[in-house]
Amino acid sequence: MALSVNHLIGILPLSEHDIRKILDTARQFREVLQRPIKKVPSLRDVTVANLFFENSTRTRISFELAEKRLSADVINFSGSGSSLAKGETMLDTVNNILAMKVDIIVVRHPHVGAASFLASRLSRYPLSVHAKVINAGDGTHEHPTQALLDAYSLEEKFGTLKDLKVAIVGDILHSRVALSNIFLLTKMGAHVLVCGPPSLIPRGIEQLQVSVSHNLLETLEWCDAANILRIQLERQGAGYFPSLREYARYFGVNKKILDKLSKPIIIMHPGPINRGVEITTDCADSHHSIILDQVLNGVAVRMAVLYLIAGKSEKISE
Ligand code: CP
Repeated sequence: MALSVNHLIGILPLSEHDIRKILDTARQFREVLQRPIKKVPSLRDVTVANLFFENSTRTRISFELAEKRLSADVINFSGSGSSLAKGETMLDTVNNILAMKVDIIVVRHPHVGAASFLASRLSRYPLSVHAKVINAGDGTHEHPTQALLDAYSLEEKFGTLKDLKVAIVGDILHSRVALSNIFLLTKMGAHVLVCGPPSLIPRGIEQLQVSVSHNLLETLEWCDAANILRIQLERQGAGYFPSLREYARYFGVNKKILDKLSKPIIIMHPGPINRGVEITTDCADSHHSIILDQVLNGVAVRMAVLYLIAGKSEKISE
């Protein structure tokens, strides 16, 4: 079997070998994306349903493009406008879609555990027993393909993840990107430091083999790359910090602070960006930034995940 897991629910269940396999396969698909015809027939016998119960731009479009580049048949479902509004459950919705002979579902949901719940329940239904689940982000839990594309982008820039110093700055408490990145980077031998106001750093996070800082300048001086996270206002109650203006003053990354550092660093962001809050335009659009490389690499990484989760292993066509 290509991977040690049937479904991609998170980074935590993956082995180091699984992560290596995904990143190496993604490198081959990244080459396909450079060709005049950016398409291979690898999944022409596979049907994928993208089920988005929560808003998304990058992940949704990136998965759809990855599926089309692999010649899969694709259907898209979004919660709004569906029969969920008539009281149908998520599980009934998914089982009805799978009854139409879908092979893989890609699911984004605002609730922690949604992808895992589906993976465990699908096996009870004869029509959906062979379906595979890929988590495209579940609440504040995991966003495994984002961590994989972040890792791919870091390797592309630095050649290795081993001993790389990566800072994750911002709203760590509500971020599935932070958690998946921490699981992946520490598994692959990188050093991780999280930085933000104390109210946005989960208590006990040091147990995940990460360091903690509340000082942005010291954090940026320490790291090779900084992954800057958005303040997730949609997942917060009030009161984690006095105002967005004050947050930007102490934890916003800008060109002025980058110019103070003794060496250049790489700036990453999973998007969407709140310009002027966690990052300024003169930083997000500067030569330090690899934000749009991350987006392109996301297509190659999702092609690799779909290909391997579909159980494919033959040579990718020339
Ligand atoms: N990075 C990310 O998940 O972005 P979207 O919410 O736009 O998919």
